[in-house]
Amino acid sequence: MKILAIETSCDETAAALVQSGKKIEILSNIVASQAENHAVFGGVVPEIASRLHCETISQITNKALSCANCSFTEVDAIAVTFTPGLIGALLVGVNYAKGLCFALDKPLIPVNHIKAHIAANYINRPGLKPPFLSLVVSGGHNHIIEVIDYTSFKLIGRTRDDAAGEAFDKVARMLGLGYPGGAVIEAAAHGGDRHANILPHPKSGAGQFDFSFSGLKTAVLNLVHNCKQRGEKPDTAGIAASFQETVCEILTEKFFAAAKELGYTELVLAGGVSANQRLRERMTEESEKTGIKLYCPPLYLCGD
Ligand code: KG4
Ligand code: ZN
Repeated sequence: MKILAIETSCDETAAALVQSGKKIEILSNIVASQAENHAVFGGVVPEIASRLHCETISQITNKALSCANCSFTEVDAIAVTFTPGLIGALLVGVNYAKGLCFALDKPLIPVNHIKAHIAANYINRPGLKPPFLSLVVSGGHNHIIEVIDYTSFKLIGRTRDDAAGEAFDKVARMLGLGYPGGAVIEAAAHGGDRHANILPHPKSGAGQFDFSFSGLKTAVLNLVHNCKQRGEKPDTAGIAASFQETVCEILTEKFFAAAKELGYTELVLAGGVSANQRLRERMTEESEKTGIKLYCPPLYLCGD
């Protein structure tokens, strides 16, 4: 079965042709990033995102089909991200997909963005089967999820305020490093001392496996302000490295604590932040220490 998959939940217009069956095969995967258009504002501007999706969606879809040597009539179904995401941006993809389905008389498959991040792990690990515990870390979400079956999920922990990716983006902005923040913080952190600053491990209120990154973000803001008030230049690399280390430590601690508490022996990382090398390294260390298996998506399947 050939599925044309469309995604416009945030600042990337993407279309892929996927062959489903015993083995899932990606026949083409075309992504147009809008990062440059939003960078000047230091974050995604929803209205600009929607307009750019309108401009590029048919081009990207046509390219996905031509790269896979496939025509519209050979497609068996059309899948589209319908939630969660920026509402105006989602509407572009959903309406485009609906229009195609109507014109071609094909079925529409609505896709939940968070579940899709988890499912991306099945593509390169055909042996991976539920049940397992997943940590989805993206720009908008920070969820620990019990994956009971392919379509059955239970939310165990979530962020009380900012998601980890959002914290990366905001800290990058404070440090004047640009947008999107994850990759630039990671690059800046390479030259820095991860123990340069002691940052708080914020409490997250009632939920044992909930997260909170807002206090950490404020602590970084205070560091930057204090430097400026003293007329000093902030140690960008040191701040980036300590911030990244603290986020990775919090995510790793909670994820493994949840696994132990709930008795899971297989863990699956997902979402844009799972591209972070230090996070993968910290989680791998913990996996080797505890004997709990860890699966990380390949880098090209981390993002939307
Ligand atoms: O899943 P995703 O592509 O889109 C959302 O669903 O939000 O995740 C995007 C988020 C952004 O906040 C971005 O800064 C973060 O993932 N990100 C990273 C890295 N690459 C992307 N965060 C940390 N380290 C990275 N290497
Ligand atoms: Zn995402």
